[in-house]
Amino acid sequence: MNALKKFGTILMSVAAVAAVSASAQGLDFVGENARHAARQYRGHLDIIDKAGHFINPRTVKPDGSTWYVPVDDWCSGFFPGSLWYLGSLTGDEELSRRAATYTETLDSAQYLTWHHDVGFIIGSSYLNGYRLGGHEHYKDAVINAAKSLSTRFRPGAGVIQSWNVDKGWQSERGWACPVIIDNMMNLEVLFEASLFTGDPTYYNIAVKHADTTLEHHFRPDFSCFHVVDYDPATGAVRHRQTAQGYADDSSWARGQAWALYGYTMCYRYTGNPNYIYQAVKVCDMIFGTPSLPDDLIPYWDYNAPGIPDQPRDASAAACTASALYELSTYLPGRGYKELADKVMTSLSSPAYRAEPGTNGHFLLMHSVGSIPHGHEIDVPINYADYYYLEALLRKKKLEEGSTKLF
Ligand code: GLY
Repeated sequence: MNALKKFGTILMSVAAVAAVSASAQGLDFVGENARHAARQYRGHLDIIDKAGHFINPRTVKPDGSTWYVPVDDWCSGFFPGSLWYLGSLTGDEELSRRAATYTETLDSAQYLTWHHDVGFIIGSSYLNGYRLGGHEHYKDAVINAAKSLSTRFRPGAGVIQSWNVDKGWQSERGWACPVIIDNMMNLEVLFEASLFTGDPTYYNIAVKHADTTLEHHFRPDFSCFHVVDYDPATGAVRHRQTAQGYADDSSWARGQAWALYGYTMCYRYTGNPNYIYQAVKVCDMIFGTPSLPDDLIPYWDYNAPGIPDQPRDASAAACTASALYELSTYLPGRGYKELADKVMTSLSSPAYRAEPGTNGHFLLMHSVGSIPHGHEIDVPINYADYYYLEALLRKKKLEEGSTKLF
C-alpha cells in the first residue's frame, strides 16, 4: 500500500494518541519535548559527575542498573550525540560543552577497524560536534574514521564488510563477508570525508556499497534482509539471512528503518534518483505493512509471530521519523513531514516517553536490541533517544523555514 494511503487510514486512530499528548503540530511541541529531554539527560550527567570520569550510558540492564559501554562499543557515540542535539535544541551551552568533552573521550575510536560501526560512533559524536558545535578540527576524526572504514572495503564484492567472521553473531552456516543493512548508516562519514579532503576515494566506496546493497539486500516488495553474506573475491551471494530479526525471510523493524534512512542520506550526497526511489519504496513498504500498529510504532519485526503480543521497537520509529523529515525536503508536499509528525506525536506520548527521573534517565521506553539473542528486550536504548532528538531538531529547522537540515 502506498505510504500516504495508509497514512490517510490511520489518521483517526492517531488522533487518539494525539489527544493525550502535545500534538507534533502544537505550538510548543519541540520546545516542551526538548526541555523534558534536557531535564532527563541532566540525570545522566549527575551520575557521571558522581563517577568522576566519563561513563557512557547505553541502556538499562535486567537488574535495573545502567549499562555503561566502552569506546569501541557501536553505541558509544550516541550519548555525546544526544548532548549535541540537546545543546542545539535548548541553547544550553553547558550541554554542548559536555557534548564536546564526551566526544573527545572517543578519540581512539576513529582508528577502529575491527567492525564497521566506526561510522555510527564518529558520525554521531565528532560529525555532530563539527556541524553543531563549530569544532573545525573534528573534521580530522571524520576523515580518519572514513580511512578506518575503508580498510573493510572488499573490492571483489563491492561492499564494506560489516562484521568480522570470528567475532559477533556468527551464523551456523559460517560467514565469509557478512554485510548488514545497518552498514548503510556508516556511509555518511565516507561522503563527508570526500567533501572535507577533495579525495573521491571515500565517496566511490560509499556509492559502490550502496549500489551493491541495493542490488542484493532487497526483496521484490522492498523489504530487506538483515544480513547478506558475500564471497569477498567474486561478490557471489552466499547467504541471505537474519541475525536480529525473527527469520531469514522476515522484516526486522530496525533494519527497514536503517534502509530508509540510509538511502535518503545517500541521495543527499549524490542526487542519484535510484536512491530516493529506494527510500520512497521502503517507506511505502513500512507504512503499508498490515502489522504496523495505528500509532506507527512497529513491533520489533513486522513478521513476528504472536503480534500484537510482541514488543515494539521505538528505536526503529525514531530513526524512521528522522529519515522522513529529510525525505520531506527532497519531495516536498507529499506528506512525509506530516507522517514524521505523527510518529513523533506517538513517541512523545506517555506510552513511549518516560516520566522525568524514571527509565534510567533515558527518554524513550520500549526499544529492542536483539530478541533472538535475548538481548535488550523492551528497554530504553541510547540510539532510540539519539534519533528521536535528531528528528526533533530536524522538525524544528523545517518549521523555522530551513530546508538545510545539516
Ligand atoms: N546496528 C546494530 C543494531 O541496529 O542493533
